[in-house]
Amino acid sequence: MDDTRLPGSLVCVGIGMTLGSHLGPLARSYIEQSDVVFAGVSDGVVELWLQRMHKDVRSLQPYYREGKSRMQTYRQMVEAILTEVRAGKKVCGVFYGHPGVFAWAPHKSIAVARSEGYAAHMEPGISAEDCLYADLGIDPGTYGCQHYEASQLLFYQRRIDPTAYLVLWQVGMVGDQSLARFSTGPAYKQVLVDVLARDYPLDHEVIIYRTPTLPIQQARIVRVALGDLPRVEIDMADTVVIPPAHPLQVDHEMRARLAALDRDTSDTV
Ligand SMILES: C[S@@+](CC[C@H](N)C(=O)[O-])C[C@H]1O[C@@H](n2cnc3c(N)ncnc32)[C@H](O)[C@@H]1O
Repeated sequence: MDDTRLPGSLVCVGIGMTLGSHLGPLARSYIEQSDVVFAGVSDGVVELWLQRMHKDVRSLQPYYREGKSRMQTYRQMVEAILTEVRAGKKVCGVFYGHPGVFAWAPHKSIAVARSEGYAAHMEPGISAEDCLYADLGIDPGTYGCQHYEASQLLFYQRRIDPTAYLVLWQVGMVGDQSLARFSTGPAYKQVLVDVLARDYPLDHEVIIYRTPTLPIQQARIVRVALGDLPRVEIDMADTVVIPPAHPLQVDHEMRARLAALDRDTSDTV
């Protein structure tokens, strides 16, 4: 331990997606041993469960408000967390899933704490990504797997590889330039479909996926044609998975080059 560091500290831990099933022993011990716990979790029931592990659990949920920019919300969360670190407390930020996956406030809190001389780090958790590999039977190593925040495909010119899986996050609020809405309607999803139609046929099957946050729930797995996506209910907790639309293309030039290398190396041994 670096003893030039200031007394406060921060750890951001992930509690996974499903209450009770995904919390690891290390994250649990950080929760139990901290002075203050901040909770950015998916469900009020999950917050109640956390309160059984620590007597001072402060919800980050009240910072969210429809019509208020999420960037302002996230900055307020960072400030609330840092105030306690600066007061010399051992602070634990608890976030659902993995605290570093599509999550701005934990990364920022750690960066600010470190820049001010405090010990700060992240402990990984089981994210929605991990759950979808299990529930949908996908191995990202088979064809490769791209992950995008859905609005990025609309705001920026991105290159999609339709021979790999494509996972789209935050489709429920796709196209929201204000960062202040909790959902956007079919017209916004139609813009997403129009962008995706540059690389995929409209009858290509896409999967809307939601992993359970409570152990009594089942995963939501809905398969629809890409062209029908705007008419399907997609909420804030849904992730959209698009399987490959084309087979992998052999790169004959590189294979020939590698074969030549193999011949050269076998000549020299
Ligand atoms: C702000 S990100 C948080 C992700 C989270 N940190 C994780 O590790 O999975 C929110 C997005 O995660 C995905 N997500 C959240 N809850 C989910 C669930 N229960 N099932 C599937 N995807 C989920 C959705 O794409 C949602 O728009």
